[in-house]
Amino acid sequence: MAIRKIAQIGHPVLRQIAREVTRDELASPETQRFIDDLVETMHDADGAGLAAIQVYEPIRICAIEVRNNPRYPYKPPIPLTILVNPVLTPVGDEQFDNNEGCLSVPNLRGVVKRFVHVQVRAWDRHGNAIDEVVHGLKAGTYQHEVDHLHGKIFVDRADPSTFATWTEFERHQRASFIEQVTQLVARVGS
Ligand code: NI
Repeated sequence: MAIRKIAQIGHPVLRQIAREVTRDELASPETQRFIDDLVETMHDADGAGLAAIQVYEPIRICAIEVRNNPRYPYKPPIPLTILVNPVLTPVGDEQFDNNEGCLSVPNLRGVVKRFVHVQVRAWDRHGNAIDEVVHGLKAGTYQHEVDHLHGKIFVDRADPSTFATWTEFERHQRASFIEQVTQLVARVGS
């Protein structure tokens, strides 16, 4: 396994449209090793998610995991999930304000409107079907990662007046955001 370099905003790879992965390609040792690298890179960077496109592979794969993470202590855990060729469909039109950062955008956070409930259809890393509805912060994380596969970065969708460095987020926004998401988690689950 290897830790990959993470593309930073401004690199054109982040604006590409990732291509579908075939079943044969997914089953190949190369792709399975790539997925191991993606997970290792996400862990090394303390990220909650990482899309293949962020490590210069424009294919429709992303990894998501929230452990006890010092970067996001308010986030409910999400077990390690690999999404291959994911398609998200909002369930209802309810949205919430999610405060997001990104491993490809150094030292910036911002508020993005995300759907509260989304259906995810995808394969796991073994090609088994995933079909579930995810909620709240977990749904926000899924939407952020799948946006990467469409060449989108959270700054495209954020209200620019909410942009903050990590330090200023901690000082001025974190407490109210935690209060808001605690209510969201109590209402809809993770
Ligand atoms: Ni990101």
